[in-house]
Amino acid sequence: MDISCDKDELALLERISVAAQALDVECYLIGGFVRDKILGRPTKDADIVCTGDGIQLAHEVANALKPSPKVSFFKNFGTAHFRYHHFDVEFVGARKESYREHSRKPDVAPGTLEDDQKRRDFTINALAISLNRADYGKLVDPFGGMADLEAKIIRTPLDPDITFSDDPLRMMRCIRFANQLGFTIVPESFDAIIRNRERIRIISQERITDELNKIMLTPKPSTGLDLLYKSGLLKEFFPQLVELAGVEMVEGKGHKDNFYHTLQVLDNVAARSSDLWLRWAALLHDIAKPATKRFEPGHGWTFHGHEVVGERMVPKIFKQLKLPLNERMKYVAKLVALHLRPIGLAKEDITDSAMRRLLFDAGDELDDLMVLCESDITSKNKQKVKRYLENFELVKERLKEVEETDRIRNWQPPIDGADIMKIFNLPPSRNVGIIKTAVREAILDGIIPNEYEAAYTYMLQKAAELGLQPVS
Ligand code: CTP
Repeated sequence: MDISCDKDELALLERISVAAQALDVECYLIGGFVRDKILGRPTKDADIVCTGDGIQLAHEVANALKPSPKVSFFKNFGTAHFRYHHFDVEFVGARKESYREHSRKPDVAPGTLEDDQKRRDFTINALAISLNRADYGKLVDPFGGMADLEAKIIRTPLDPDITFSDDPLRMMRCIRFANQLGFTIVPESFDAIIRNRERIRIISQERITDELNKIMLTPKPSTGLDLLYKSGLLKEFFPQLVELAGVEMVEGKGHKDNFYHTLQVLDNVAARSSDLWLRWAALLHDIAKPATKRFEPGHGWTFHGHEVVGERMVPKIFKQLKLPLNERMKYVAKLVALHLRPIGLAKEDITDSAMRRLLFDAGDELDDLMVLCESDITSKNKQKVKRYLENFELVKERLKEVEETDRIRNWQPPIDGADIMKIFNLPPSRNVGIIKTAVREAILDGIIPNEYEAAYTYMLQKAAELGLQPVS
């Protein structure tokens, strides 16, 4: 098998081969490294399987390298790992039991290479390349993985019910690989996901979300999410998203299918940005539509306030999915809250103060918000999309103009709470807040210019209304 390895990789594989011969064990490259090399994709870690003690082999190889890398190993699981220059190398002894990273069932029985290959997840991940002297470089492919790679097919080596119940996370991996590689899942494997979907519940949410995020980061995440939906897996861990699906009809009027609309917005964002959290904002922008849906007779479907309810749903969903509850979550919530604002400015008679207000509220997130909002224009009517996008360009222009003159983004009003406390000799109190907000709003509304003198005069006026006088 000819795979293109660089000089350093070849030298390391040679070392492994020599060490295996010295220990009199057979050893093979296996898994994602082989798959990705054949596909010409970038590789990360190399998995080595040997018919013997993987930990001993790892030590033997490490000892022969200069400088000698530190080997970390898990005795119970028979696995070892070291990092050498930019390579991560994993060693494992071939086993009869299912291959699972740090499985809950340690002390697996040793097996042959083929035993090991058939307990792996997919035929394309079970391809092995010999590192033995006798047949160095030979492809060992008892389950037709090479043909499946060529046909772009994902298939389990065993009956899929066995492969998936060995490790239900593989159902997520199956869809993730299909999405990442642009492959098709064979019907028997996909049907097995549908049958076994509830078994995903035994997998930790962190691991499920890890796969979900890999799907979110593909160039076209809608493909993976649609497969998650159609297989029933999505409902198991993210029912709120499934709630978006479907169209209700009243008086002959339907609304758009918000699930597929959301997927399209997500793809549109993905085409413009590789940022995971902006993509999450796209996935969640309409999440509260089911909760806010109303049919108003004579008017049609409305989703009033879905952006506000959606903003509040974000923390709950992040907690449920074990996503980070930090500024990333706040960022997503903020974009969900503001996602209707830019398009609302696409009218002729919009004042500069509405523009300033958006600049102020969006702050650093303005550019991402504009990407989300533009991606949200998904009508099937091409003329309509064209018109909307043109209007949107005008909004962008005007925002730029207002920003250039007023510098509102990340702006701090010329008078802050500390100034007010000092001028009126006030303790931290409600009145300080009232005066501070009044000054800020007056500037945003264009009632006074964004200057200290004007703000000072306005502050005195507001304070007088509250019966307050400056101390000096
Ligand atoms: N594997 C498996 N079942 C799992 C996880 C992994 O059978 N649930 C096997 C597969 O043979 C896989 C190998 O272990 O190729 C290495 O796993 P991992 O590093 O997680 O995946 P890769 O295939 O290398 O791909 P990626 O890095 O994209 O996840």
